Amino acid sequence: MRHFLTLKDYSKEEILEIIQLSIKIKAETKSKVFKNYMPKQTLGMIFEKSSTRTRVSFETGIYQLGGVGLFLSSNDIQLGRGEPISDTSRVISRMVDMIMIRNDSQKELEEFASYSKVPIINGLTDKYHPVQLMADYLTIIENNLEKDLKVAYIGDGNNMTHSWLMLASKLGFDLSIATPKGYEVDKDILAQALEFAKISGATIRTTNDPKDAVKNATVVTTDTWISMGREDEKEKRVKDFDGFIVDDILMNNANKKAIFLHCLPAYREYEVSTEVFERHSEVIFSEAENRLHAQKGIMVWLDQQRD
Ligand code: CP
Ligand code: NVA
Repeated sequence: MRHFLTLKDYSKEEILEIIQLSIKIKAETKSKVFKNYMPKQTLGMIFEKSSTRTRVSFETGIYQLGGVGLFLSSNDIQLGRGEPISDTSRVISRMVDMIMIRNDSQKELEEFASYSKVPIINGLTDKYHPVQLMADYLTIIENNLEKDLKVAYIGDGNNMTHSWLMLASKLGFDLSIATPKGYEVDKDILAQALEFAKISGATIRTTNDPKDAVKNATVVTTDTWISMGREDEKEKRVKDFDGFIVDDILMNNANKKAIFLHCLPAYREYEVSTEVFERHSEVIFSEAENRLHAQKGIMVWLDQQRD
């Protein structure tokens, strides 16, 4: 049995196999062919944080696969009142077939997984957002940009950045990350990515200069400067991130055919200008839709790995 906790645990071949499965299931879905890949299965969905895309895509996805999604807000289950993770995992994993968790701690997610009888999927933690990256890579393929791929990430060194580090270093593409001073990526995660890059041939660069990072990029991406749970730091962060907006001036330094990706929700005139967002909105909303298709691929693949 496999979990989907971070791309660190996945080989290039496995990542591409899941993507191919997602492409196949997406094509079936678009032709209104809904195969019962996971009949009568229940996906438990534990949310300790807000969500629009993750909740709607997982709940719709499991339904289209023949199963049902069970939304569990941590405010409403005993976990929120202090029932141990170990007990919660042992109880829920005896009743459902797969569990998705969004919380504020990769460590607690991994603890939950260690007690679980069923596959656990990371729906975002403090450290990683791997399901988003699968949707992003699917979008890159659909835009025929996977060859000679050069991604520039501009902004906060956060869960999205760490996931880009894992994807790039596993698949072997170029990634340039520009963060303001003091908002760099986690050193251990960067070190790990650099190790993987030695094998895959990825080029990973970090800088504090956005212009330098976007040079020749075929994909430019960013994320909110104020992740969930960081709301108290808004005033300071807005000052510290001055000069890190992805606007037309910055995009002009990228490759002419560059697309812009955003995991959403987007905050216009902070991390991205309204003009850049609207010009790339078709790709951005396809990226959002791809959450549904990529996660169906992940769920079916995990289901196929069971003993
Ligand atoms: N991108 C993303 O995970 O969106 P939600 O927070 O709405 O789930
Ligand atoms: N970095 C953001 C991603 C939201 C999808 C956050 O953690 O809030």
